[in-house]
Amino acid sequence: MIDLSVQDGIARLVLNRPDKLNALTAEMCDMLATRCREIERSTARIVILSGAGKAFCAGGDIEAWAGETPEAFGDHWVRDGHIAFDALARLTVPVIAQLDGHALGGGLELAACADLRIAEQHIKIGQPETGLGIIPGWSGTQRAVRRFGGQVVRRMALFGEVFDAEEARRLGLVDHVTATGAAHVLAEGLAARVLSRGPQATKLTKMLINAADREDPERIAEALAGRIAAGTDELREGLSAFREKRKPDFS
Ligand code: COA
Repeated sequence: MIDLSVQDGIARLVLNRPDKLNALTAEMCDMLATRCREIERSTARIVILSGAGKAFCAGGDIEAWAGETPEAFGDHWVRDGHIAFDALARLTVPVIAQLDGHALGGGLELAACADLRIAEQHIKIGQPETGLGIIPGWSGTQRAVRRFGGQVVRRMALFGEVFDAEEARRLGLVDHVTATGAAHVLAEGLAARVLSRGPQATKLTKMLINAADREDPERIAEALAGRIAAGTDELREGLSAFREKRKPDFS
């Protein structure tokens, strides 16, 4: 239901539940977190996220909510979504969201995890949750506010405004608008541009931007320090000493 292929440095991540407009189930959230780990361990240097069929993503699976107790809704549905969305937002390689169909509710929250959004001209963007009697709980009141600003989130989440692609671009919800059917062309072009740049510099820069954006700055600080420490002679001496059962000599 979430497909991943990696070729020539580009990871293509596809939400693949087109009969339900790629509405996200708990299983799909788990799969998304797994796919993100696979991307981190792959040769990918850029990710293009898209949806199969006519929607990008129509949000969380509304049908699934009926079977949830309030406790399970908060503890599992919301938390599992956060684990998956955090994993996507915190990838060290850049992510492009290719919105070739509507991005609503959880679909918008998912697109918010990307570094860049490309929308086809016919799509709609919004946060319908309060109209369904629920909150935008997969970071729609947090990451979305940080990335898009509070006012546009208020308009969508509190007043139910749904924006077309051009308006979404003016409001900063998306970065580029293309003709219908053309988002993938621009996505591939921008992916090629990322591939032409320094891979380590790009990764490190994204980590720093994410730290500024409150995407787990503590982990980023330790990851960066870990990279430095692991590149020193100290670690080599420490490992040798451990294997040779002697005291390390750091002089
Ligand atoms: N959860 C579960 N199923 C969903 C869904 C969702 N969020 N969004 C769409 N679907 C299902 C529909 O129930 C329908 O299933 P069916 O064919 O078995 O009846 C199928 O996807 C196609 O949707 P449909 O409504 O027929 O398509 P449409 O093109 O007429 O309308 C939308 C598209 C996006 C406007 C409409 O589907 C919609 O409003 N979806 C809900 C969006 C939402 O509120 N998301 C917030 C959740 S966080």
